[in-house]
Parts: sequence; structure tokens; C-alpha cells
Amino acid sequence: MRGRFITLEGVDGAGKSTHMDWIARRIGAAGKKVVVTREPGGTPLGEELRKLLLAQPMHLETETLLMFAARREHLDRIILPALAAGTWVLSDRFTDATFAYQGGGRGLNLEKIERLEDWVHPGLEPDMTLVFDLSVEEAKRRRLAASAAPDRFEQEDLDFFARVRAVYLARAARYPQRIRLIDAGQSVADIRKVLEDHIITLCQ
Ligand code: TMP
Repeated sequence: MRGRFITLEGVDGAGKSTHMDWIARRIGAAGKKVVVTREPGGTPLGEELRKLLLAQPMHLETETLLMFAARREHLDRIILPALAAGTWVLSDRFTDATFAYQGGGRGLNLEKIERLEDWVHPGLEPDMTLVFDLSVEEAKRRRLAASAAPDRFEQEDLDFFARVRAVYLARAARYPQRIRLIDAGQSVADIRKVLEDHIITLCQ
């Protein structure tokens, strides 16, 4: 049986990474094999592209194309083989992030992103996407507490993150079957209860 593909999304600082390991363990406890990965990254080439993307100033379309180049490699080497082998894939970000950051945050025409999506992974979308939603002010407080050296995205202002968040919220409203919105302002314990319900549903 094909594995399930789960992605985690949200503005930087919303806390998704805090929950990655717990979700992976919970899926493992349900008897499934799971691979934990991330974007941009997840492969040797993808991790090299990640270093460039997080550090180098570049044209917005270059940035978008490199995100999809890393994704193409990630699909070929990690995501598709794992799903075909029945392994679950838990990815810290996927194509929703390109719509939110390059589309919402930076203002790239969403149709261009749709065209790249159709080219790079026609017919493939996550089985479930967990969007960790938090006010941009609180996310900024958490980022400042966590990161001494903010990367190129983390250095963006509150308006940028408000546009990123707006696209995540719009996509959650547009794809209610796939996208689960998580109120990341709750306690970790309360968030885990919500995650538990979503994971159980997907295991059935
Ligand atoms: P991370 O900090 O969650 O690992 O993600 C790295 C950064 O890359 C984050 O600020 C969001 C950004 N990003 C995009 O702008 N577009 C994308 O398609 C992806 C996958 C990530």
C-alpha cells in the first residue's frame, strides 16, 4: 500500500519544527515506517541549494525556480520512492510554502507557481498538510528568542509575514479536505491533542 504524504507549514516561528519528532514517533507507534525530511533540502543537492537560498540575494524567479529544482530532486530521490515502498513521508514544508512565500510574501504571480507545480509534480499533493497558524507578532517574538543569526527569510518584516500568513489561510479555506489549520498559540499539550486526532484519522 502506498505511504501517506504529510507536510508541515506555517510562518517562520510558528513552531512546526517543535512538533516534527513527536508526529514522526506517533506515526511510528501506529506501526508505519516514516521518513522525516525538509524543503528546501532533503537531498545532498537540495541541501546545497538550501544554503544558497537562505543566504544569497537573488531574483525572485531564480528563487522560485531553485525551490522547485530542489523539490524535483527531493521527489525523485526521497518522496516518491518512499511512498511507493509504503513508507510515510513527513516533510517540513512543500509547495504550499512556495505559494505562501514567493507568491504571498514576495508577490510572484500565483499562476506562474501553479505552472511549475503542474510541471514538477502533476497529480501529486500531500495527503494532509498541517498549517501552524500564529499571529506574525508572536511568531517574531519566538523567532528572536530561538535564532541568533536570522536567515534571508527570517530577516523579512512583519508585512512580509502577514502576506505569507494570508496565503496559508486562503489555501486552508480553499482546500479544507487536505489542509488542517492548527492554532499554534495554544499550549504544546493542546496542540498535541489536535495533532493526535488528525494523525489517527489519516491512519484509518
Ligand atoms: P525552514 O526555516 O522552515 O526550514 O524553511 C526555510 C525557509 O525557506 C523558510 O523561511 C521558508 C522558505 N521557503 C520558501 O520561501 N519557499 C519554499 O518553497 C520553501 C520550501 C521554503
